[in-house]
Amino acid sequence: MARADELEQVRSRALADIAAASNSEELDKVRVAVIGKSGALTKYLRSMGDVPKEERAQVGRAVNEARAAVEEALAARKQTIGEEELAAAIDAAAVDITLPGRAQQIGSRHLISRITDEISEVFLGLGYSVVEGPEVETDYYNFTALNAPADHPSRSLADTFYVVDRSGEKSAVRGESDVLLRTQTSGVQVHTMEDQELPIYIVAPGKVYRRDVADPSHLPQFHQIEGLAIDKGITFGDLKGTLEFFCKQVFGQDRKTRFRAHYFPFTEPSAEVDVSCGICHGEGCRFCKHTGWLEILGCGMVDPNVLEMSGIDPEVYSGFAFGVGVERVACLKYNVPDLRMLLEGDMRFLRQF
Ligand code: DAH
Repeated sequence: MARADELEQVRSRALADIAAASNSEELDKVRVAVIGKSGALTKYLRSMGDVPKEERAQVGRAVNEARAAVEEALAARKQTIGEEELAAAIDAAAVDITLPGRAQQIGSRHLISRITDEISEVFLGLGYSVVEGPEVETDYYNFTALNAPADHPSRSLADTFYVVDRSGEKSAVRGESDVLLRTQTSGVQVHTMEDQELPIYIVAPGKVYRRDVADPSHLPQFHQIEGLAIDKGITFGDLKGTLEFFCKQVFGQDRKTRFRAHYFPFTEPSAEVDVSCGICHGEGCRFCKHTGWLEILGCGMVDPNVLEMSGIDPEVYSGFAFGVGVERVACLKYNVPDLRMLLEGDMRFLRQF
């Protein structure tokens, strides 16, 4: 084939390949194959020595022209491909700001924590402070110092979780007092009377444990808030006024309260407090077992024995105490029929509060 035809072929082939290259990698391959060290056109230039002298100038010009055309085509294609690739990269990384966002589910405080705070805040507002006591307690603080007789049924293995050692014997500390999971927050009264200066105005929220099987009205672990006020001249009237105020703050002004005489070892006299049923408002319905009333707390005037055991002179000081079940308050406030619903973690239920 004549040199000129061959050159023309290389040039048109190169231009076609350049036009067909669809990305910078392919284009670079074409560049190497045509004007690289051993590219088709380069070879041509190198073989100029074989060209007869008289044709050399002409052939040289043709080769240079072909090279210039190829280089120009390469540069133009490179620019186009560069723009296309940039546009594609921008497209791929683009965020469509018109799409709706993905909603994150926001958690909230559990109803039990909220009611605990709500009750504590009512008493904080009355000048009480919030204290805590141990959940692993001794028989002394949970029973003895609260005037519970040695044979009180709540001390029995059937009612209380005792901490046992490896042999299955009850564990004991200081003075052979058995170790147990507290069955009530009332032991915090004793710790506070031992540790704090008088007068005392405290509430003590916390977990308590009982050997009960969970059912609509019992849980083996639940929360109580203990209250204790000790000062000179405290009367049952102070107790009633305080707890009536508390009930109205938590349950609403329209709910009535009543005090029923009761017995607790650590208070004398003792009472239980009921609020009027939030469903039937006293008419009687299934929720209040047709009584119109719901029991919410135990209370009383601190027994002089209890004051004395903790080193307080009952001739000078008197006081009242109370214990509220937090789960119970939550259920009675929101008309929840089963305590276990608070613990099941069902978001459809919990989200309502
Ligand atoms: N500790 C009692 C209970 O768990 C509740 C209670 C009643 C606490 C009377 C008190 C009180 O402080 O005075 O059933």
